[in-house]
Amino acid sequence: MHDATMHPRGTSAALLLACAALAACAGGAPSPEASVDRAPAAAGPYTAPERAADRALYEAKCGVCHVPFHPADFGRDEWPGIVATFAPRAGLTRAQRARVLRFLEDAAE
Ligand code: HEC
Repeated sequence: MHDATMHPRGTSAALLLACAALAACAGGAPSPEASVDRAPAAAGPYTAPERAADRALYEAKCGVCHVPFHPADFGRDEWPGIVATFAPRAGLTRAQRARVLRFLEDAAE
């Protein structure tokens, strides 16, 4: 599970440098871990607190190697494939993956 993904160095030096320059990968953001396993993303109204928690999760988990992409950078039809690609690299649980995707799809164009 954590095999080839542990050392992204060399895959994209530019992204890693951008990350270092912004210090976004140093873990300065408040940790969303406390609420991580609170509930799987469920159908129904997407409340503001849920959205804020999902956004924090996205920024924390998907901002480790590069600055998190803006949701509008990709289409609603593109995010599922992107999240499928990067969820393993970000170490997302199934529930976290669903929450990240819900946030991205909601905020995408
Ligand atoms: C282990 C490091 C790492 C993590 C964690 C990570 N990414 Fe990335 N990401 C990369 C690298 C490296 C690239 C550029 C090369 C590539 O596409 O593999 C990239 C590129 C991207 C791109 C651009 C793809 C394109 O077609 O232009 C998107 C979008 C993206 N990541 C989204 C995410 C999301 C969403 C998450 C969280 C689920 C995430 N990343 C977590 C390393 C990571």
